[in-house]
Amino acid sequence: MTVAVITISDRASRGEYEDLSGPEIEAVLHQYMPEAVVHRHIVPDEPAEITAAFGRSAEADFILTTGGTGIGPRDVTPEVTVAYCDRLLPGIAETLRAESLKETPQAMLSRGTAGVKKETIIVNFPGSVKAVRLCTTVLVPVMEHAVQMLRGAGH
Ligand code: MTE
Repeated sequence: MTVAVITISDRASRGEYEDLSGPEIEAVLHQYMPEAVVHRHIVPDEPAEITAAFGRSAEADFILTTGGTGIGPRDVTPEVTVAYCDRLLPGIAETLRAESLKETPQAMLSRGTAGVKKETIIVNFPGSVKAVRLCTTVLVPVMEHAVQMLRGAGH
């Protein structure tokens, strides 16, 4: 399992604050899947740079993004993800939002989505450390099966 973790944040990409969410995703992944190969990247909230980062991660089984899912003027992660994907995976986004709502009503403000591009599954997480800890934990149990399904394996 190869996972690209992309932190999407203007300020983190400029080094104005430390990216804590990307490392948190990696830590949770390794807790449950010690053999997972994780590559981390940081990009600003710029559609062209996000799309380029997706393209550079085309060999990964999963691309997990953090940040840019809200309603701020620079939040474009869901639009870029939808434009990039061949097919959407609404069940993942619905589940992450539903589980997140148990943690905070602010989860309603995340527009995060999920989809498939060729043999890569892309999932948007919100930007906070608390959110990515929960979302990664919720996603982990389906990751292996999802990869097998995408490669055409039977049940
Ligand atoms: N989901 C979980 N599980 N935990 C959180 O703390 N924060 C919310 C929401 N989803 C949150 C969450 C908040 S405050 C916002 S504004 C939206 O995600 C969008 O966050 P983003 O713009 O950083 O992606």
